[in-house]
Amino acid sequence: MSTVLVTGGTGYIGSHTCVELLNNGYDIIIVDNFCNSSPDVAGRIEQITGKKVKLYKCDLCYDVEKLDEIFKENKIDAVMHFAGLKSVSESIKFPILYYENNVFGTVNLCKAMEKHNVKKIIFSSSATVYGTSSFAPYDETMPIGDVSNPYGRTKYIVEKLFEDLCNSDALWNVVILRYFNPIGAHESGLIGESPKGIPNNLMPYISLVAAGKLDTLTIFGKDYDTPDGTCIRDYIHVIDIAKGHVCALSGITKLSGVNAYNLGTSKGTSVLELINAFQKMTSRKVRCTFGERRKGDIPVVYANADKAYKELGFKAEYGIEKMCIDAWRWQCNS
Ligand code: NAD
Ligand code: UFG
Repeated sequence: MSTVLVTGGTGYIGSHTCVELLNNGYDIIIVDNFCNSSPDVAGRIEQITGKKVKLYKCDLCYDVEKLDEIFKENKIDAVMHFAGLKSVSESIKFPILYYENNVFGTVNLCKAMEKHNVKKIIFSSSATVYGTSSFAPYDETMPIGDVSNPYGRTKYIVEKLFEDLCNSDALWNVVILRYFNPIGAHESGLIGESPKGIPNNLMPYISLVAAGKLDTLTIFGKDYDTPDGTCIRDYIHVIDIAKGHVCALSGITKLSGVNAYNLGTSKGTSVLELINAFQKMTSRKVRCTFGERRKGDIPVVYANADKAYKELGFKAEYGIEKMCIDAWRWQCNS
């Protein structure tokens, strides 16, 4: 048994990962400032798993003394670092906020870890770090960093920070997980993604239109060089993402230094295919219209997920249909 400190553990991906960790016999300690989540989520994690969750309200940027106390009070074996801001459009408007929260917050976390001799960390990165210099399928040997927005650059900088840390001290052990497009929710309908205001991402938007809470989905572009003219993404069930973290945690001790893995399905799905699958699986109509291309969108993004399979034994299990059913169940409960 070992204890994992989960930053951002009441958020969308963090909460699902907490469930998987508890179900696999780990103890967890959640640290979150609730800027994009609610403390109630911890109770829901307990309800799903029947296990206790230790929860601390703590901001990685401003509550450094509290963070130090948390490391003092608990015997922590490894950290999973989900805490961060994640909106591309918001990061373009408020770059300082993004650099501060995502980079400075991570620096504070690393300082506390170093002080308390906890040197194993799994970090939430994004497929966005591959940028525009390579083409799908993206694999981990491809260059990173040619990113067009501040959010993506914060992920790139933190990846490099971990590389430098591992070069400076061989006891650091870092797994970087580059998520493709996580969607769906826990089967219980108790936890899922709760975007504030009008969502930027496709699946939450589809769900809100299907629920009658938003009027029409605008499909951004219909003239891409893809079979149906709409953009292609690698959608992966959030439970698969969570399971990928458990595989990374059990694999981390066999690794040394910094290692990056894609978490994707290796399968591309177009915007129209996702809408059609959602309509079929939920029997709900999603009213759509075509609009202009969204600035910065890459036409085709999907993973080569072989490395995670070969080295961590992780393979995504769930298909688009289940992602749609689970996303809709969560929407109906929200
Ligand atoms: P989320 O917003 O649902 O969860 C992030 C959690 O971190 C929230 O609970 C928030 O309150 C907390 N948090 C933010 N800043 C904090 C701080 N300074 N101190 C303490 N807590 C803080 O987001 P998510 O979708 O669960 O994403 C988790 C991580 O995965 C993020 O780092 C995100 O950038 C990354 N990621 C997400 C996606 C995606 O599509 N959801 C894709 C690639 C990477
Ligand atoms: N889309 C629409 N209409 C919408 C929303 C999205 O047509 O209202 C389209 C987009 O143009 C894109 C696809 O749906 O073609 C997926 O868009 P998302 O915003 O859901 O996802 P992205 O792939 O653009 O971005 C996601 C995360 C980013 C992350 C990136 C990494 O939101 O944080 O994946 O690949 F950086």
